Amino acid sequence: MDEARFVTHLSGKRIVLGVTGSIAAYKAVSVLRTLRCAGASVSVVMTKAATKFVTPLTFEVLSGERVVTDLFDAHEPMAHLMIPERADVMLVAPATANFLARAALGLADDVLTTMLLSVRCPIIVAPAMDGDMWTHPSVVQHVQTLRSRGVVVLDPEVGPLASGQIAQGRLSEEPKIVAAVDSVLASRCDWQNEVVLVSAGPTQESIDPVRFLSNRSSGKMGYAIAAAAKARGAEVILVSGPSSLSLEPGITTVRVNTAAEMADALCRHFSTCTVLIMAAAVSDFRPKQSFVQKVKKQGKTDMVLELEATPDILAMLSARRTSQIMVGFAAETEHMVSHATDKLNAKGLDLIVANDVTQTGGGFGSDDNAAIILSARGEQRDLGLMSKRRLADEILTAVHELCRVRPCQKVSVE
Ligand SMILES: Cc1cc2nc3c(=O)[nH]c(=O)nc-3n(C[C@H](O)[C@H](O)[C@H](O)COP(=O)(O)O)c2cc1C
Repeated sequence: MDEARFVTHLSGKRIVLGVTGSIAAYKAVSVLRTLRCAGASVSVVMTKAATKFVTPLTFEVLSGERVVTDLFDAHEPMAHLMIPERADVMLVAPATANFLARAALGLADDVLTTMLLSVRCPIIVAPAMDGDMWTHPSVVQHVQTLRSRGVVVLDPEVGPLASGQIAQGRLSEEPKIVAAVDSVLASRCDWQNEVVLVSAGPTQESIDPVRFLSNRSSGKMGYAIAAAAKARGAEVILVSGPSSLSLEPGITTVRVNTAAEMADALCRHFSTCTVLIMAAAVSDFRPKQSFVQKVKKQGKTDMVLELEATPDILAMLSARRTSQIMVGFAAETEHMVSHATDKLNAKGLDLIVANDVTQTGGGFGSDDNAAIILSARGEQRDLGLMSKRRLADEILTAVHELCRVRPCQKVSVE
């Protein structure tokens, strides 16, 4: 098959491949290979029955990742939440009659069905079973239920089955399955025509060669936004302050240290962007003087450090603004909505994401964040506590909805 066809939408995407206990389980191996060749990362999740047909080792070697088979795996007890969290698409191929029933009922009695309940990305299932099973009213009803919930169910094909019967029940051919994944990803590319400029992380303002003023920002929120925008098809430029986070492939990244350097980098790239998202925690003040040599204690009991304001980056960018959508963040410790509204108005932003950095389980350094999105038109959306990756997607959707950049496209697969 022509793998290059899929490079556009599969490259850099994260796919969860569920494999269930069908005689067609071996075909999932070639689905995995094609997805990997097209540049996707694939996490394989197998039911106990699936491991009777193909060994997890086969998938482990070909995916380059641990295969999850057990909900109560001591090595990765939270895999049922962590793996779906990062997924762009969840594909179950082959899907047994038993799996369809459990999925339709919302059971969560193994790792795969539990993931199905926690996943928020599109789900595709490719059933495979004997012809009489496929036409059984119970299976027909479960398929209907899944489709009514937006699950993409690929009709099995007509042909010779393991039982010797010639009927509808064969797993869809691999190119059709991969094309379905590609098509779902393509329809999620609602940011394809955007160039997104994202700032992330803290800044460091030098006091002397060994000391600096900074803040507790880890960069996780900005990096999550950059990854989400990339996954949704945008061209992304990330201007990052010092952060230990690893960089996503395919994202242009500019490393900076100080607020002045961040202002510089953002001004340089601003004219090419369509959306600016300022998630960096930029220092408001810097030492008036940065010492060339290390400041010595030399018996002093106190020391006064004179500070001056750093450049107002949003004001600088506003002055250069043409048609860019501008989104800011307000990390607050009190009066979240009123402080964020003041900043939204004062800086002329289209949207502001207010987060309470004192909240338990969220804020600086955490993987989660609780945020309220406020728009210049007065809309307010309280998103509660969620992972930064999921919040990133919510923010991107809100930018489209509230700023009417363009309507989101609907997922449609034949
Ligand atoms: C040799 C063999 C082949 C099977 N093939 C299928 C199949 O293609 N489709 C199906 O729905 N069930 C098939 N089954 C039955 C499933 O393995 C059985 O329903 C199992 O409980 C499915 O578990 P799972 O859905 O958790 O993977 C087969 C069973 C055997 C022994």
